[in-house]
Amino acid sequence: MVDYEKKELLYRGKAKEMFATNVSDVVWVHYMDQVTALNGKKKVQMTDKGTTNNQISSLIFSDLTANGIPNDFIKQIDANNQLVKKVQIIPLEVVIRNFASSSFERKFAVDHLLKFEQPVKEFFYKSDKLDDPFINDSQIKALNIATQQQLDQMRDLALKINQRLRTIFAAMQIELIDFKVEFGLDQTGEIILADEISPDSCRLVDQKTKESLDKDVFRKGLGELVPVYKTVLQRLQKVEGHN
Ligand code: C5P
Repeated sequence: MVDYEKKELLYRGKAKEMFATNVSDVVWVHYMDQVTALNGKKKVQMTDKGTTNNQISSLIFSDLTANGIPNDFIKQIDANNQLVKKVQIIPLEVVIRNFASSSFERKFAVDHLLKFEQPVKEFFYKSDKLDDPFINDSQIKALNIATQQQLDQMRDLALKINQRLRTIFAAMQIELIDFKVEFGLDQTGEIILADEISPDSCRLVDQKTKESLDKDVFRKGLGELVPVYKTVLQRLQKVEGHN
C-alpha cells in the first residue's frame, strides 16, 4: 500500500484545489467549502459544502467504475479529499439534456422542462475569459481541441453516463434534467471521465415536490444550499448501500 503525501498546489479552481502527490501520475483533490456561480462572480463560503460534494462525487464515480465507465477516480481519502489519476483535461464541457431548462430554454424559447425524445448533446469551450462559449464539431477540430474520433467517443461516453445517472437518480426519486461532464486523456492517451459529478454540475428535481436539488438553489437564491446537497447525499448513500 502506497502512503500518499500531498505536495505542491498545481491548480486552484472555483470549487476544488489540485495538489501533486509523491506518486507522479496521482493527483490529490481538495473539495473546498465554497460555492460560485455566474463564472465566479457570485462566491460564498459554506461549511460542509466540499465534504458533501466529495462524498457524492466519490459514490457516483465508484458506481460508474462498477458500470464500465472509464474514469480518473482512485479513492476518497477523507471528508474533503480524494485521489485521482493525473489526466490532461480536454477543454470542453459536455452537456447532456433530458429536459429543457436554463440556457436551452432561453435560447430556443421553449417550455420549461420540455421532455426530449432523445438526449440533447452540446459542447462548450472551457474558457473563463470567453464565458465558456458554445462550440460545434467543426470549430473544435479547427481549433485542434479534439479529433472527430475523440468527439464521438466523448458523446458516446456521456450518453452512457446519462443512462446510468438517470437510473441512480430515479431510484432516489429524482429526475435528472441535465448535467455537465469533463473528459481527460490518461497517461496512455485514452479518453476517460474526469472532474466531478455532483449537484454543482447536474440539474436535479425531486419527482414528487418538483423542488430543485442542485446549484440552482444558490443561483436563484431559493434557500440554503448545503441542506439540499445533504438530502441528495443521504438518498444516494441509501441506493448505493452506504449507510
Ligand atoms: O446553464 P446550462 O443550461 O447550459 O447548464 C446545463 C448543465 O450544465 C447544468 O446541469 C449545469 O449545472 C451544468 N453546467 C456546469 N458548469 C458550467 C455550465 C453548466 O456544471 N460552467
